[in-house]
Amino acid sequence: MELQYNPKYPSVDDLREKAKKRIPGFAFGYLDGGCNEDVNLMKNTAEIRDVEIKPFYLRKHLGSDMRTKLFGHVYDAPFGIAPVGLQGLMWPNSPEILAKAAFEHNIPFVLSTVSTSSIERISEITEGKAWFQLYHPTEDNIRDALINRAAEAQCPVLILVCDVPTLGYRPREIRSGLAMPPRMSLKNILQIFGKPNWALQTLHYGRPQFVNMLPYIPKGLNIRNLGKVMDSTFAGRLNEEKIKPIRDMWKGKLVLKGIACEEDAEMAVRLGLDGIIVSNHGGRQLDAGQSSIKSMEAITPKFKEKITVMMDSGIRSGPDIARTLAKGAEFTFLGRAFMYGVAALGKAGGNHTISILKTQLQQVMDQICCEKVEDLSKHLISK
Ligand SMILES: Cc1cc2nc3c(=O)[nH]c(=O)nc-3n(C[C@H](O)[C@H](O)[C@H](O)COP(=O)(O)O)c2cc1C
Repeated sequence: MELQYNPKYPSVDDLREKAKKRIPGFAFGYLDGGCNEDVNLMKNTAEIRDVEIKPFYLRKHLGSDMRTKLFGHVYDAPFGIAPVGLQGLMWPNSPEILAKAAFEHNIPFVLSTVSTSSIERISEITEGKAWFQLYHPTEDNIRDALINRAAEAQCPVLILVCDVPTLGYRPREIRSGLAMPPRMSLKNILQIFGKPNWALQTLHYGRPQFVNMLPYIPKGLNIRNLGKVMDSTFAGRLNEEKIKPIRDMWKGKLVLKGIACEEDAEMAVRLGLDGIIVSNHGGRQLDAGQSSIKSMEAITPKFKEKITVMMDSGIRSGPDIARTLAKGAEFTFLGRAFMYGVAALGKAGGNHTISILKTQLQQVMDQICCEKVEDLSKHLISK
């Protein structure tokens, strides 16, 4: 896929600024915010940037290749698109836009249970290459139905999330009364009037819905209230009893996302999972928690040989991807960066954001004389 980016927005920060101007405040607040005082959110980005890597300028360099083998597939780059709920609220049709861009660039796209496009539609766009993230339903028959749909759609990887035992305390969402569709308070209406592009696109694509969950949402409860739907439809806390039957049922690769301590990583290994994503949900759940890169410090040395260790939370650039891989992750995911891209640039946003990240990472690898992604850890400056 040809790398293409608009020179007006050469960084994820530029995309964030543009996105802020282009979508209503309640949608931007949902995307951009962390929880409580945003301490964990800020630590994620700040502490990744404390990681330093060294160049070897005088070594012979035969070229850098960022292709990465993961779960038997060779991806074109060591990063993927993390699952994000309510995507269509931030930009209409955004799951489809991002899935298509991921497919064309040969990187993984992960569909959230509570995104606004269906497992089947995303599988069609990605020719069965997209991954699916499951929030564990309260009812076993809903769990089975979703898992069977993901298997029929040929999803190669199923991700279970363990860091949402309860929904994070998020002041922005509380203030805006986040709902689907957005509650029509005077404040929200005024925000929509100020964003004609978003409003027209939303009219064109129709009201965003939790399409995957529509067949199972209890009668009498509509999807106006995210918190209520989450509470009544999903079990929240994950445990050994809930993971075991899924391991038995799912024939593809199974990954646990939201790992932030050694004890949980240990359980993932014991239950025969294929991978873990060290993550704190982008700082949206536990404001008093560690940054994701810090959690990695304890987890990677112990578990790297036993299970595939990946990381997300706080990554905003090619250098950040290089830093995270240097710290020992085998693969990385980004959530907000891609959503900023689509909210800023619509249809072009997926390709644009992937192109920026690939170009930046290529530059870092060439600069430091690193030929393959696995060698990035040899460039880490230990402290
Ligand atoms: C707006 C938003 C919605 C999210 N929704 C989900 C979700 O439905 N399922 C999930 O597993 N993670 C969800 N996440 C977490 C992301 O998958 C990922 O862990 C996080 O965005 C990584 O941090 P970053 O945004 O700093 O890259 C969401 C994150 C954001 C920002």
